Amino acid sequence: MSQDAIVMLKAAHKQFRGLFRALQKASTTPARKGKLVEKIIELLTVHTYIENEVMYPRVRALLPDLEDDVLESYEEHHVADLLVMELVPMTWKDERFVAKATVLIENVEHHIEEEEQDWFPKVREGLSRTQLREIGAELAAAKETAPRRPEQPSALKKTLDAVIA
Ligand SMILES: [Fe+2]
Ligand SMILES: [Fe+2]
Repeated sequence: MSQDAIVMLKAAHKQFRGLFRALQKASTTPARKGKLVEKIIELLTVHTYIENEVMYPRVRALLPDLEDDVLESYEEHHVADLLVMELVPMTWKDERFVAKATVLIENVEHHIEEEEQDWFPKVREGLSRTQLREIGAELAAAKETAPRRPEQPSALKKTLDAVIA
């Protein structure tokens, strides 16, 4: 039995929150912060990819009333993509590294809140359990082939599509 799409995505959000907290701890060393940001970027690359490729288009097609919410979420992913692309060539030794990572986190936290508070509840209300499990199965399948690094071609394509579109 495949997992409910919203349950899956919320589990990923929880993982982000844990990593964000670790990064913000005063006792976390700069080198460890570098590692945490690497992990955040990897998970974010997968997460935004599977939402862009599966969750958002399915919701848009099945629940046209949520079009505006979905479009806004695409834009928020796009802002995160741009910040990620700027972080990739940097290391924790760069004086702007932590500041840029903090701005990324603030953006992602806001975005996750909006998904969880504003429109995932409407998706839960508008779709059946079976539909949510079907989308969950598609998300799980997309995760298998999702890019893990933002400079991989499929991740770059997503970023470029967002710039050009
Ligand atoms: Fe998202
Ligand atoms: Fe999300």
